[in-house]
Amino acid sequence: MMRDMDARVLACEPLAEGLTRLILYAPEIASSAKPGQFVQMLVPDNAHVLRRPISLMAYDPQAGTMTLAIQPKGRGTELICSLKAGQTVRVLGPLGTGFDAGEAKKVYFAGGGVGVAPICCAMDAFANEHARAFFGFRSAAYAYGMTQAPCAVTAVSDDGTLGEKALVTKPLLAAIHAKKPDLIMACGPAPMLAAVQKIALELDIPCQLSLEERMGCGIGACLGCNVKIVAPDGSWCYKRVCKDGPVFDAKEVAMHG
Ligand SMILES: Cc1cc2nc3c(=O)[nH]c(=O)nc-3n(C[C@H](O)[C@H](O)[C@H](O)COP(=O)(O)OP(=O)(O)OC[C@H]3O[C@@H](n4cnc5c(N)ncnc54)[C@H](O)[C@@H]3O)c2cc1C
Ligand code: FES
Repeated sequence: MMRDMDARVLACEPLAEGLTRLILYAPEIASSAKPGQFVQMLVPDNAHVLRRPISLMAYDPQAGTMTLAIQPKGRGTELICSLKAGQTVRVLGPLGTGFDAGEAKKVYFAGGGVGVAPICCAMDAFANEHARAFFGFRSAAYAYGMTQAPCAVTAVSDDGTLGEKALVTKPLLAAIHAKKPDLIMACGPAPMLAAVQKIALELDIPCQLSLEERMGCGIGACLGCNVKIVAPDGSWCYKRVCKDGPVFDAKEVAMHG
């Protein structure tokens, strides 16, 4: 159930280059969260009215905690990343649809940059001995999410300082050719998602993509986060990333790589 609550900051610390890990005590949200969902965070000042959407990287219903990985992009995320342990922050969540493995036994996970965070959450829920993960980072300094991963991770980087100098789709495609998965789950920058979508559609592999769009309300009321959805018969409509997503079937979204 969605809650709007004051969450206590347990930790706010560097996770990688340009990335902060925020651990919040928010038992009501942690107890009903699903992988792929997000929260809307109020910027801790009196100037910003619009909340900032941030994906769940992990949640622990027993401990009542949730972990977020936040990249300071503008003033809002900068202020959120400067929170201190002991402070509180207003959080609305859990929001949106999540990833769903359904009957899939072999899932391949693909994450790029800050998009690795929701993929870590999906891996915690759905990874088994058949699963494989593929992470792409700008360089080794930007890497995270690999040490406690519940399945084998292949990481690549743009500059070759971590793994192969390649885009994340390269090892993903090689693994697919070696053994086709039942499902791909992906989150990352739009060009990466467009490339993963192309692979999945061409090779007829079910695929779920977690999209990002600028948001207003975060609860389906303002239509500020619409994306174009294409039906199998070619007709199309708009859906809201916040309410109908952020996770969509790769067959239905019109990506602009
Ligand atoms: C469902 C969802 C999940 C997200 N999860 C995370 C996450 O786990 N970690 C994280 O760091 N960020 C995440 N984001 C992106 C994050 O919400 C934005 O970076 C943030 O709202 C920017 O706010 P700001 O005040 O810092 O920057 P602003 O001053 O509002 O914007 C700064 C720059 O960021 C760009 N920007 C703003 N919003 C977005 C967006 N939604 N997508 C892409 N670019 C944007 C602007 O165009 C501008 O160039 C997510 C976004 C969505 C929609
Ligand atoms: S952000 Fe308002 S409808 Fe999605």
